[in-house]
Amino acid sequence: MSLPALVFLPDDDTNTAYYARLRESASVQQVQLPNGFPIWLVTRYDDVRACLRDERLAVDPRLLSSPEHKFGGRRVPEDILTSTGRHMLNTDGDEHRRLRSLVNAELSSGAVGRWRATVDRIVHEQLDHLDRQGAAAGGGPVNLMTAFANQVPVAVISTVLGLRPADTPMAAALLRELLSSKPTDSPEMIGWYHELVDLVLATIEHRRRDPGEDLISMLLARSESVGVRDLLSTVVALFVGGPPTTATAIAHGAATLSTRPDLRADVLGSEASTARIVEELLRHHPPFQFVSWRFATADIHIGDVVIPKDATVLLSLAAANRDPRAYDDPDEVRPHRDGAPTHLAFGSGVHRCIGAPLARMEITVAVRSLFLRFPRLRLAVDPRELCWSDMVFDRRLESMPVNLDGAPA
Ligand code: HEM
Repeated sequence: MSLPALVFLPDDDTNTAYYARLRESASVQQVQLPNGFPIWLVTRYDDVRACLRDERLAVDPRLLSSPEHKFGGRRVPEDILTSTGRHMLNTDGDEHRRLRSLVNAELSSGAVGRWRATVDRIVHEQLDHLDRQGAAAGGGPVNLMTAFANQVPVAVISTVLGLRPADTPMAAALLRELLSSKPTDSPEMIGWYHELVDLVLATIEHRRRDPGEDLISMLLARSESVGVRDLLSTVVALFVGGPPTTATAIAHGAATLSTRPDLRADVLGSEASTARIVEELLRHHPPFQFVSWRFATADIHIGDVVIPKDATVLLSLAAANRDPRAYDDPDEVRPHRDGAPTHLAFGSGVHRCIGAPLARMEITVAVRSLFLRFPRLRLAVDPRELCWSDMVFDRRLESMPVNLDGAPA
């Protein structure tokens, strides 16, 4: 008997209802990907969290004993990161700890405060750009994704990493292409990937000669312990991993606030309220629907079900974050949820998002500054008309039309 297919749905309401049905039918079940590949799917909060923290569920497919489970070294077509060598997201155990420790301290909550002025500057430059786009559109709708939400995170990570300002537009263009749905082994993808690698290598050489306050310069200062391969794969992982998710969170925040005057008033009121609302928005709509594949290196028992050794496992953050067993009225955006467990939008356990402190700061500053500048900003379409990409991991918007001076505030 063939397994039910896991589908990826473009509109948000249908997608949410679909994951709710899966979660309520069983926490752990076998399904197949659209290409027929069988996987185990975990959907309920407690089980997803436990799996995230279970190191027997590895991220490196090479640990599996049967070669047919190894996806030929690749996981899904859009999985560009598997081709960039050994980095945090495809290593386990000591190798993972070593790679993570290279940048862990610099990206901690305490350390990212030093990038606050940079984030403020970039957000305000992009708001000026958005304003100009609005004027050029004669007051008609502008695309918030391309004119603001996509721009801020890529500009921030480029500065944090130490890319030369002149290289940032090219790096951003390559990232856009690499995140498209083309197969990773297509000639175009391979070409773009090599161009990004060359750009990062050129940046590394530049920072050797002209060090700054950035992450690459900081890693080069420890050059005895950090080889170029580690430097390259770490920089590419940070550059590719951070911006799309942060952009989605900014856009989802803007879309939600545009229909919720109560939340908008809180955002305009204070940065602390905005930060709390951002956490709830991340729970409500995690930009990564799933964490990256896990591979069972042993039989894993969850309730009555056994996920067998060598199985491929998908953990659904989107389903877990809306689990009514963990959150009352999970489909509502309610920033005050006293006693509720921490959401899983940034994962949990050893692979939890290393960029979370930077992302939180960026989203908070971007969303608040957006509504301080344009308090009457409104979606120009019904939220149900927003079309989300059908990528396996991150659910992204190509377009989000807004009126900067919409309905009365
Ligand atoms: C709202 C924004 C973001 C979200 C929702 C997000 C989400 C996640 C999640 C769920 C994971 C865990 C993956 C797994 O367990 O397989 C993760 C890991 C990671 N994230 Fe983020 N992320 C965000 C922003 C960022 C930023 C800004 C950066 C870069 C500065 C970044 C870099 C990484 C890296 C390198 C990892 C791998 C960590 C490891 O495996 O130890 N992320 N992220």
